[in-house]
Amino acid sequence: MADAQVIDVHEPEETFRAPTVPMSDLYPYPGTRRLRSARADDSDPQLLRLTWDDGETRTLHALMLRENCPCLDCRHPVTLERTLDQLGYPLDVAADELFVTADGGLRVVWSPGGHVSEFAPGWLFAGGRPEAVLPTPAPRLWGAELAENLPRFAFDAVMADDAALLAWLETLRDVGLTYVTGAPTEVGVVGRLVHRVAHIRETNFGVVFDVVNRPDSVSNAYTAIDLPLHVDLPTREYQPGYQFLHCIVNQATGGLSRYADGFRMADELRRRDPEAFALLCRVPVAHRYHDGDVDYVTVRPVIVTDTDGAVSEIRYNPSLMQGFDGPPEDSRAFYAAYRAFAALARDPALEAVLRMAPGEVACFDNRRVMHGRAAFDPQSGPRHLQGCYLEREEVYSRIRTLRRQVETV
Ligand code: OGA
Ligand code: ZN
Ligand code: ZN
Repeated sequence: MADAQVIDVHEPEETFRAPTVPMSDLYPYPGTRRLRSARADDSDPQLLRLTWDDGETRTLHALMLRENCPCLDCRHPVTLERTLDQLGYPLDVAADELFVTADGGLRVVWSPGGHVSEFAPGWLFAGGRPEAVLPTPAPRLWGAELAENLPRFAFDAVMADDAALLAWLETLRDVGLTYVTGAPTEVGVVGRLVHRVAHIRETNFGVVFDVVNRPDSVSNAYTAIDLPLHVDLPTREYQPGYQFLHCIVNQATGGLSRYADGFRMADELRRRDPEAFALLCRVPVAHRYHDGDVDYVTVRPVIVTDTDGAVSEIRYNPSLMQGFDGPPEDSRAFYAAYRAFAALARDPALEAVLRMAPGEVACFDNRRVMHGRAAFDPQSGPRHLQGCYLEREEVYSRIRTLRRQVETV
């Protein structure tokens, strides 16, 4: 045993190659692209210039590659997660030698230390970034006209067929609102639909919740009154990503459903009143929900933008908004901006109005699309929707795993 270890140590360094975990498992998309050549940049040797079979050139950094080495010294053989110490090699690590492998991937001998890494071509071509291969398209913004061409997907197809599921989820991601149609008009069906995607986001209202007129209601939603456009649960640090409302029965007079694209509204505000937009992005606003059992408060701006400045989230709920977090002297400016947004939320040109029929499931991005309902007359007939929530990340994850079956790079 001790002898064997001594022999290992005396193996010449350049003949040692740690076994490599299959990068196609680390990366979902098998590649068709092959590397033609690789070289280190003359002025910055940590920049590795990769030329592909069609002549396209891409650059990757030595640090990123070293850190993502797929060998079994650097990754756990079963989980495939990193075991390499991220401080275990110098910041100026560089490629001592570069080879194109037989399968069109890249072998790097690192300096200092002589560690050898081998990267699969599909992973390399994507720069190790799933989002580079499968980028999330920009949202398709809409207004009132969506009511006439609302994307609809058949319940049976979505439940049975992965291609139909993928088409539905990608549309849901891009448009933010779709209807699933032809669902059985039974309780529990909305949970089955969402389980087809992933697991439900449970809240204090339950795994699924029943939207019916109730005398002991704990929420305006569970009454018959008009519900102005809103997002659900802005009271939570992490607002539910998607909401599903399944119409089981709708025989009451009134109760029309309304939807508006909050990203479109925010863009309109940015265009018409940039100061109001900036203020709503900056000033934290408190939303609160409390009943006998729970007391949720979250203080965040009404409009959230991502690092590119694109609107990524709306927190607007007139029933639950408490006030803004700032000195009284700033109140007038805050309310002027808030009202500018609230006025857009009443603009009929931005609002798609539909009457839900039994068997329809309204599916929408609850952090983007605002929804509302006209008052209904509970004496005129029953109205029962059953709903539940699902995180955005579950939709995105499901899209990626479904895409593995069809995508190549
Ligand atoms: C809700 C809601 C709309 C409706 O339950 O959050 O907004 O049509 N319901 O009843
Ligand atoms: Zn390694
Ligand atoms: Zn709601």
